[in-house]
Amino acid sequence: MRRMRGDKEEGERLNGGDSLVKLLRLVASLMIFVGGVVIGLASSSHVTRYFTSQADIFYTNRGSGSGGYSYYTSEENCSVIQMIVSCPKEDCWSMESFLGPKNLTHGMSDKELLWRASLVPYQQGYPYPRVPKVAFMFLTRGPLPMLPLWEKFFKGHEKLFSIYVHAPSGFKLNVTNSSVFLNRVIPSKAVQWGLSTLTDAEKRLLANALLDFSNEQFILLSESCIPIYNFPTVYKYLINSAHSFVESYDDPSRYGRGRYSRSMFPDIKLKHWRKGSQWFEMNRAVAIYVISDTKYYNIFRKYCRPSCYPDEHYIPTFLNMFHGSLNANRSITWVDWSLGGPHPALHGASNITEGFMQSIRNNGTCSYNSEKTSICHLFARKFAPSALEPLLNISSKVMRF
Ligand SMILES: *[C@@H]1O[C@H](CO)[C@@H](O)[C@H](O)[C@H]1NC(C)=O
Ligand SMILES: *[C@@H]1O[C@H](CO)[C@@H](O)[C@H](O)[C@H]1NC(C)=O
Ligand SMILES: *[C@@H]1O[C@H](CO)[C@@H](O)[C@H](O)[C@H]1NC(C)=O
Ligand SMILES: *[C@@H]1O[C@H](CO)[C@@H](O)[C@H](O)[C@H]1NC(C)=O
Ligand SMILES: *[C@@H]1O[C@H](CO)[C@@H](O)[C@H](O)[C@H]1NC(C)=O
Ligand SMILES: *[C@@H]1O[C@H](CO)[C@@H](O)[C@H](O)[C@H]1NC(C)=O
Ligand SMILES: *[C@@H]1O[C@H](CO)[C@@H](O)[C@H](O)[C@H]1NC(C)=O
Ligand SMILES: *[C@@H]1O[C@H](CO)[C@@H](O)[C@H](O)[C@H]1NC(C)=O
Repeated sequence: MRRMRGDKEEGERLNGGDSLVKLLRLVASLMIFVGGVVIGLASSSHVTRYFTSQADIFYTNRGSGSGGYSYYTSEENCSVIQMIVSCPKEDCWSMESFLGPKNLTHGMSDKELLWRASLVPYQQGYPYPRVPKVAFMFLTRGPLPMLPLWEKFFKGHEKLFSIYVHAPSGFKLNVTNSSVFLNRVIPSKAVQWGLSTLTDAEKRLLANALLDFSNEQFILLSESCIPIYNFPTVYKYLINSAHSFVESYDDPSRYGRGRYSRSMFPDIKLKHWRKGSQWFEMNRAVAIYVISDTKYYNIFRKYCRPSCYPDEHYIPTFLNMFHGSLNANRSITWVDWSLGGPHPALHGASNITEGFMQSIRNNGTCSYNSEKTSICHLFARKFAPSALEPLLNISSKVMRF
């Protein structure tokens, strides 16, 4: 993080030069000066003076007994000036950049980011026409081989989704200038699979996505995930759901309860312990609960180490303890464990047929908003890069996109 902040400052110095900074300082001072004048006027009982002599204000403000304002002299200790100078390309105070940062680059530490993302408006409603969006969060170890399929899936629905990519630090996603994935990599850190750095990355994705107040649903995906329904179906299903889709179940075996540590007692009891796939889907309220928790997360960080995997237990257990009624307890990402072993089946080119895709689109029945539905999964894993071509070939016929 610190390195990123350094890079940013370097970039500005190279681009802007000293004169730009000076100019901005001048503009900032002017703005603050005008602000001071307005405040001075408002709090002064002699508002009429403005009309008699404008010049008066410049000289009487400081000593006029209305507070002794000196905005135009104290540049050094005015943090507002610092903030304006540090992001010269946009108005930092605009509603637009507050509601949804356009540029995902930032210099916040995880601690600062999670705190900021946890802020919730107290007032009901929004001061702008809010169209809820779905945040697609890709947690990847490298390139996204299914990217062309996703681009086809997203095409034409630009106002209804946001994309976030967590990639190895320094990784550059190779996309065209018109891609919806362009500049969507968040400030990322190294991830060790199975350790808490993985759940840290999940929280980092959630927090970055929460900074956009229009994001309402949050789905975690990997590089081997694909969509199996078209965007309008996915959007409607998620936005209208009364529940989040975080798999959470009690596994009495050594792969479930066996991973519980007695050191977690009494804060987390064995009866609370749950297991579930890391590939979650959650709404805004649940996402804020998850990123705001530090107490239980610290217990997991301390006592859930291999062969306990925080990504399979932390969120399922935490939601079960406090927010169970908000959860459907099932995953919307289809996966095939039928082959046995520690890894699910990987599907390559030879496995992709219309019949196979239809079978995972309608793979039994499940409960949705307390009613039965044949749509249980919206996404599927795991698919090898070789599956891309045949998937693109049948997507319009089978998946309708
Ligand atoms: C602001 O800075 C000026 C001089 O730079 C100093 O005299 C003044 O006390 C400072 N005010 C505050 C509130 O720190
Ligand atoms: C985002 O901001 C960073 C640092 O302020 C800058 O280097 C980068 O070019 C910006 N990206 C875009 C797409 O504007
Ligand atoms: C980036 O993608 C283009 C087109 O898909 C490809 O031609 C190029 O080799 C890729 N570059 C890298 C560095 O992978
Ligand atoms: C993509 O954008 C970069 C930087 O803005 C530019 O240098 C490059 O020519 C663009 N490429 C295409 C194919 O438009
Ligand atoms: C999910 O499990 C919780 C207990 O953790 C339960 O309260 C809730 O009703 C379940 N959700 C559904 C949709 O059955
Ligand atoms: C995929 O196809 C290969 C070769 O046809 C086959 O060996 C494998 O079992 C298939 N995988 C699945 C999950 O069906
Ligand atoms: C679900 O999908 C799997 C894998 O294609 C298949 O073996 C199974 O029969 C399907 N179940 C239903 C109820 O369609
Ligand atoms: C695409 O599908 C058609 C028939 O549906 C088939 O004839 C063709 O070989 C397929 N192409 C690829 C690249 O899979």
